[in-house]
Amino acid sequence: MRLVLLGPPGAGKGTQAGGLARRYEVPHISTGDMFREHGQLGTPLGLKIARFMQSGQLVPDDLVLEMVEERLTREDARRGFVCDGFPRTLPQAESFARRLASHGLALDGVVLLEVPFQALIRRLCLRRVCPRCGALYHLEDRPPRQAGLCDADGSVLLHREDDHEEIIRERLEVYQQQTAPLVAFYEKATLLFRVDSARPVENIRADLYEILDPLYERSGDTR
Ligand code: AP5
Repeated sequence: MRLVLLGPPGAGKGTQAGGLARRYEVPHISTGDMFREHGQLGTPLGLKIARFMQSGQLVPDDLVLEMVEERLTREDARRGFVCDGFPRTLPQAESFARRLASHGLALDGVVLLEVPFQALIRRLCLRRVCPRCGALYHLEDRPPRQAGLCDADGSVLLHREDDHEEIIRERLEVYQQQTAPLVAFYEKATLLFRVDSARPVENIRADLYEILDPLYERSGDTR
């Protein structure tokens, strides 16, 4: 199963991707999580990308593509993947399609999670993240049982440094300019499915399974 989750910051890509990856037995590949890990470890890549991430700008395509290429060559990605936050520009999408085609492969589907921008600002300002297990919380809609601590492992929850209103607005602008054109790109390739994601997480998940289970069955010959 080779799947891309597309959508603006805060649309719920990370919230849905883990469950999909488990259901279809493929890795969840989040370029945002990979970059944050490089940042935390202080790798050369982490140092190069810090200013882009802190300001809500996209990391340059060549750095993204190199990192993704390395990730896709690992054994666990042979049966497919759920990509979350990649591709994000037309050059990334075109390069990704060429890379898959060169291995005789193609995407099975691209899901666009649609949410009005005003709702996204509220979601992201109040998001908190567990630095250890990646669990996601929302201070009002999905609060942790004990304030500030992860339900699963007790870690102190983080407020991402790009989850402040001014930077969120910048990320939404960047999405509109650089990522939204991918909707037409994947529509033309007849790969795109739209899901209204301004609804409860469970309803969205049910719709995703309904759309994606048949694709998973059809992908059987190449998985
Ligand atoms: P990245 O980490 O990918 O951030 P993003 O795309 O901006 O997406 P988010 O993680 O903010 O949102 P999400 O859609 O995953 O929502 P979530 O499920 O967390 O990228 C960060 C940065 O890395 C970029 O700005 C860029 O610099 C760089 N980067 C990454 N990939 C790149 C690439 N390919 N090219 C170039 N640069 C790249 O949910 C958000 C909140 O909403 C949570 O609190 C959650 O609990 C809540 N929520 C989720 N679903 C619902 C729902 N249905 N109802 C109510 N609340 C909900």
